[in-house]
Amino acid sequence: MVSADPVRTHRVPAGVIHEHQTAARPTPHGFDRVAPVYSALEKLVYGDAMQKAREAFLDRVNGHGDLSVLTLGEGPGGFLTRLCGSVRASRFFIIEPSSKMRALQWRKLQSNPFGDGSHEFHYFGSLEEFLDWARHRTPVTIDVVVTHFFFDMFDEDGIRGIIRSVNPLTVEAGRWWWADFQIVPGGRWWRRMRASVLLRVMYFFFGMVSGLRCRRLANAQPLFTECGWTRTTVKSYSFGFISAGEWTRSGSPGSQPH
Ligand SMILES: C[S@@+](CC[C@H](N)C(=O)[O-])C[C@H]1O[C@@H](n2cnc3c(N)ncnc32)[C@H](O)[C@@H]1O
Repeated sequence: MVSADPVRTHRVPAGVIHEHQTAARPTPHGFDRVAPVYSALEKLVYGDAMQKAREAFLDRVNGHGDLSVLTLGEGPGGFLTRLCGSVRASRFFIIEPSSKMRALQWRKLQSNPFGDGSHEFHYFGSLEEFLDWARHRTPVTIDVVVTHFFFDMFDEDGIRGIIRSVNPLTVEAGRWWWADFQIVPGGRWWRRMRASVLLRVMYFFFGMVSGLRCRRLANAQPLFTECGWTRTTVKSYSFGFISAGEWTRSGSPGSQPH
């Protein structure tokens, strides 16, 4: 409900954080347990590959101002801090249910004194809360949507639902940066084997520690195409196991938010 939207604000060197408290949500979130070790584990297993994939398209917006960015499941905030160091006076809509992940992001934002303090960071606990806020409070349009290592938590229906919900908010020349794991069919056998072992281990670990129920990587590429997006560039890392794509809107935004 609109009236139940108290906003807590915090100032950080890059701008102001608006923490929207739109609904009661279960706490702690499963990813709270992963948050303290997430970045260390990532480094141990993949070195810089995941971070390179996150930053793959930052040069496309370097120096731009007045951007609106929606990031789903930002995690510990390594990408967010780099992005807001690259652009000026922009709005970041961050969907992050884990309070521990938020705390890591804010610590990074606090200790990185970049920019002129003119960014706005709007935090929401779920996509539904953000969509509700966007519908009722203010006209919101999104220039860049970011889903990094996020769709691997959903099945095809879940991914399709997310893309369709976000679509109507995206601008005509909107971009979608999507980085994730992939198993390339037909590649070298040892790469496929490595990828499939790593995927099994990750799903087992996140299932045990964060309660993640998803157990397999959905094929999201056709869903993007079906929902009106075209991939303009793709880069790969970690022997092809990690892929980063930039997608642009290729048609009308389609369905309305539910
Ligand atoms: C696998 S981590 C990915 C983190 C980060 N984007 C990255 O590049 O590594 C998933 C993140 O999504 C968040 N998350 C989990 N379920 C979510 C949901 N339903 N909506 C939005 N974020 C969610 C978690 O708290 C966590 O920060």
